[in-house]
Amino acid sequence: MSVARLEIASVLAAPKIGEEVLLKGWVRAFRSNRFIALNDGSCFANIQVVVDFENFPEELLSQVSFHSCVAVKGQLVESQGKGQTVEVVATELEILGGNDPEAYKLQPKRQTMEFLREQAQFRMRTNTFSAVFRIRHGIAYAIHKYYHDNGFYYMHSPIITGSDAEGAGEMFRVTTFDPGNPPLGEDGKVDYAQDFFGKATNLTVSGQLQAEIGALALGKVYTFGPTFRAENSNTSRHLAEFWMIEPEMAFYDINDNMNLAEDFTKYLIKYILEHYPDDLAFLDQRIQDAEKQMKAELRRPMGLIETLKFVVENDFERLTYTEAVNILLNSKPHKKGKFQFPIEWGSDLQAEHERWLVEKKFKKPVIVVDYPKDIKAFYMRQNEDGKTVAAMDVLFPGIGEVIGGSQREERLDKLTQRMKEMDIHEEELSWYLDLRKFGGAPHSGFGLGFERMVLFITGMTNIRDVIPFPRTPGSAAY
Ligand code: 4AD
Ligand code: MG
Repeated sequence: MSVARLEIASVLAAPKIGEEVLLKGWVRAFRSNRFIALNDGSCFANIQVVVDFENFPEELLSQVSFHSCVAVKGQLVESQGKGQTVEVVATELEILGGNDPEAYKLQPKRQTMEFLREQAQFRMRTNTFSAVFRIRHGIAYAIHKYYHDNGFYYMHSPIITGSDAEGAGEMFRVTTFDPGNPPLGEDGKVDYAQDFFGKATNLTVSGQLQAEIGALALGKVYTFGPTFRAENSNTSRHLAEFWMIEPEMAFYDINDNMNLAEDFTKYLIKYILEHYPDDLAFLDQRIQDAEKQMKAELRRPMGLIETLKFVVENDFERLTYTEAVNILLNSKPHKKGKFQFPIEWGSDLQAEHERWLVEKKFKKPVIVVDYPKDIKAFYMRQNEDGKTVAAMDVLFPGIGEVIGGSQREERLDKLTQRMKEMDIHEEELSWYLDLRKFGGAPHSGFGLGFERMVLFITGMTNIRDVIPFPRTPGSAAY
């Protein structure tokens, strides 16, 4: 097969009828012992390959089955059949690599997501997962493009960290000690001074505090990296290892921060609508097919693409935490005792409350701002009322919180007083306090959960299905 191999995406983008092509890919379907639907991952579409069984040994054709990998040489012709404009009439066909159709676990039919999760080595070959992971890439690219085009600098915050100040969640310890026999200090506790870094270290729960260093030097920065939280949350929205995007901006107040969050998330959705229409159309149809079996009240109010367009075209609703609590107190589900968790000023909004606000009350994304200071982190800027801080959460339909952020406390006295109240030792964060002592500035930032955004844009329902190798309590395969 001496011609150069082409990718299916480029062949379909500009088909040259009559040209001899060499394609390599995986068989999505083999119909009537004659038509191969070939996919090489370069795009959603398959290309049809016509194999005239008289020209090929039966033994070879019997090996062509679901997901076997083949190389095909042939001529590109206009298609006779429906559903495609061009096809390849094969003159040569070769099976590449290992191929045991009998023992292959995946079947060409709809499989459950749970089953596919246990087949991460193969699930990316399915229509659904290849679409999801192409879109995941697209979102990651769009994130870098958005920030680059808007004058932000990409900053790498550390993955191993010696600071445990964020308080965002339980941390995973990083150590080289023998767990059965760690050195002990005089007090009988593990002596981390003898550990690799000379101190106790953990995997990061957020790059924010380090990003603040960047913002107060480069003006606008963002981090985009892996984040680790050892909370035992076995939900469809939580991972123990996820990716977070954290922009941090000097001279931005909480309103600028909200505007950026809205513009940024809309940009990502627009980018995918524009660049991944085939993958989105497939995922949209897939949801509609699945919903045919469901009771009407369980179906989504809008299709996937319709939802994405709606979010892009409408302003997010903005309200304060206090307003949200009052609306919830007056809501039907609250009055009828339908919420599992109580609603009272001072407690955090639960997922059920957030989703009611977004899906039932406002029917669009919501930004809640000015939360009680006692349920938020020490670094958030205290409001004049003495009770709330300039914190914001962005809530999306079907998901709940996708973004958490705030204006940061730039006033040294207010910050240290809050740290005292929350028992955070100044010595541990002297570098952070330096940012207030020397050339400090009002500044703001937020964190977007990458997988939650992928979940929203792909319309998938479980966060484990939008990351290639999910890490959750009790599970770290691959
Ligand atoms: O609200 P969080 O905890 O905010 C912070 O970590 C701040 N330091 C961000 C900042 O201001 N720079 O987390 C931010 C987002 C959440 O809104 C959520 O989307 C996502 O990260 N997230 C998770 N995603 C998946 N699995 C988990 N366990 C997550 N925990 C948070
Ligand atoms: Mg949060």
